[in-house]
Amino acid sequence: MNKFLPACILALIVSSLSAEVLAEGDAEAGRALFPVCTACHGPQGLGNQAMNAPKIAGQEDWYIVRQMELFQNDARGTAPGDMHGMQMAAMAKGPQLKGDEALANLAAYIGTFPNPTPAPTVSGDATAGEKLYPICAACHGQKAEGIEAMSGPKLVGQNDWYLVNQIKKFKEGKRGYHNLDHGGRQMRPMVATLTDDTSINDIVAYINTLN
Ligand code: HEC
Ligand code: HEC
Repeated sequence: MNKFLPACILALIVSSLSAEVLAEGDAEAGRALFPVCTACHGPQGLGNQAMNAPKIAGQEDWYIVRQMELFQNDARGTAPGDMHGMQMAAMAKGPQLKGDEALANLAAYIGTFPNPTPAPTVSGDATAGEKLYPICAACHGQKAEGIEAMSGPKLVGQNDWYLVNQIKKFKEGKRGYHNLDHGGRQMRPMVATLTDDTSINDIVAYINTLN
């Protein structure tokens, strides 16, 4: 494992350098696309745990656009048993959201929201989590700030319960399973080091300390 991982990461670096250039979005035009999102993500994109919908305020535009495309292309939210992903996929397929321009506008509008730190909900041992984090930094950054060139999204400032859920989805093959989902397929083997719920909670508790 230790010998294999560095080579594996290097191969991934090369494969992710082909990131698309994002169209410049018009936040005012994006405003009109957002009302449908508020029922689950809230009027300012702060997320709603009761709806299992994460915070999207503060997330980077390139990542928001990419996730919307994955949902639209059945590359996310189609795995058997992924009820939450299916709910979101249905929303992403709205006819008003077709095309690069609409998604760039929507992401630009989300980019105008304030980005407060969510209250922690997960209890774990952040010191133990810190020891598990170094492998994640290659793609998500030392401070979990995200690295676009690696397609790794920002994790800091995200709802902690959502991070736990997503790590479990990668483990269960409910995310990162589709040919078009290049980022998700890179991410999926990385959760192998998180062998149980305790280690998942610990690493997320550590990410909470990076705020
Ligand atoms: C019916 C509720 C619902 C509505 C309406 C909805 N979403 Fe979602 N959204 C969700 C859920 C649930 C998830 C988490 C899916 C998962 O667990 O994989 C999600 C996930 C996302 C993600 C992925 C976040 C990440 O960090 O990976 C983005 C981006 C997103 N939604 C944007 C939107 C936008 C933009 C709209 C409006 C066009 C919208 N959503 C409307 C429920 C909803
Ligand atoms: C080889 C690069 C790489 C490494 C290393 C990596 N990730 Fe990721 N991770 C990604 C990519 C790319 C995505 C986005 C996948 C997508 O677009 O759907 C992602 C997504 C995630 C998400 C979902 C975020 C969201 O908003 O939905 C979580 C949580 C996550 N990673 C946690 C981790 C943790 C914890 C580690 C270390 C154990 C780790 N990652 C290591 C590349 C990586």
